[in-house]
Amino acid sequence: KLQLFIHLLYSLVMESNEIKKIIPFDDIWDNLNVLEERLLEISSSSNDYLTSISQYLINAGGKRFRPIVTSLAGKFGNEIENIGKIIDAGVCVELIHIGSLYHDDVMDNATTRRGVESSNSKWNSTLSILAGDYLLARSSELAAESLGLESVKLLASTYAELVEGQTKELNLAFDLDQNIDDYLTVIEGKTASLIRTSARLGSLASSADSEIVDALSNWGWNCGIIFQISDDILDLTSDSQTLGKPAGNDILEGTYTLPVLIALNKDKGKYQELLTEIKEDKIDIKNVLDEFTKKEIIDDSKEIINSYLNESVEAIFTLKNHELFPVLENINNYLINRTN
Ligand code: IPE
Ligand code: IPE
Ligand code: MG
Ligand code: MG
Repeated sequence: KLQLFIHLLYSLVMESNEIKKIIPFDDIWDNLNVLEERLLEISSSSNDYLTSISQYLINAGGKRFRPIVTSLAGKFGNEIENIGKIIDAGVCVELIHIGSLYHDDVMDNATTRRGVESSNSKWNSTLSILAGDYLLARSSELAAESLGLESVKLLASTYAELVEGQTKELNLAFDLDQNIDDYLTVIEGKTASLIRTSARLGSLASSADSEIVDALSNWGWNCGIIFQISDDILDLTSDSQTLGKPAGNDILEGTYTLPVLIALNKDKGKYQELLTEIKEDKIDIKNVLDEFTKKEIIDDSKEIINSYLNESVEAIFTLKNHELFPVLENINNYLINRTN
């Protein structure tokens, strides 16, 4: 267990160093320190028991990827004047993200999250759902207080999209006839919508021009799709130690992600049989993973990711002379490269 912990810590530190190299702005990292305090302040309840559960995953870490996006987007308008709002926008999106992680771990029967025992396993599902609800409620409250009606509405509709994506994923569980468009609809809802909104809220909070807000939103949308596809590839190609959860967990849970659907398109008979065998516990997950991570399958997955990379760059083409253009481009490159 200790070894697992050290390994996880090492990968988390490495990962955050990588992102730091891509985003060479000290103030972004300073903002993130302020954000940490604010997350704890906003999520504190007069009920200590609720506070301890709701803050459990906040304290467990995480990349804070969505607030990083919000902070970067906040640089496209009047950042100095609006820095408090920009940070609060980051708090709002991270609270929604963390709230959805509590709920996600209940629906996925997860045992670990952010390198620690998941809250559904440590406490139970009921308390995890309440903790998630609490963070979502505090996020709305903060948005209303600090960001205004347009942002409150945006966060609410984003959360609705996220729930629609999560529900569709459940509808499709173990479905061998789903197609790649079904999968894309799922990840647009469950992941891309919030990353798009993170970019949008940051630029709105900084009072950026509306064309810039739209361009960054569009970048965030494509970034979110890249983010989830690479996460899904890693679930198949990485090891349990690095992931902090069993490798191949998606397949075991019946979540058939892009590489699995590509494989089914290539040879339905063969791959259908493998999925049925693993469902009935007749073969080892290791063998299944070897089959689903063959070079031609991963290559085809990457081809699809690259089309989103191109779209994300096109989305911000009007900003190509901005000093942050290469940073936005590099974030997506980094997300893709971590699957190599
Ligand atoms: C996990 O998100 C859920 C997905 C959308 C894949 P992150 O990978 O951003 O998780 P943390 O915030 O770093 O823990
Ligand atoms: C998480 O999706 C998406 C949301 C929390 C909305 P996953 O179930 O694919 O992510 P992990 O693998 O648990 O982080
Ligand atoms: Mg999950
Ligand atoms: Mg899930």
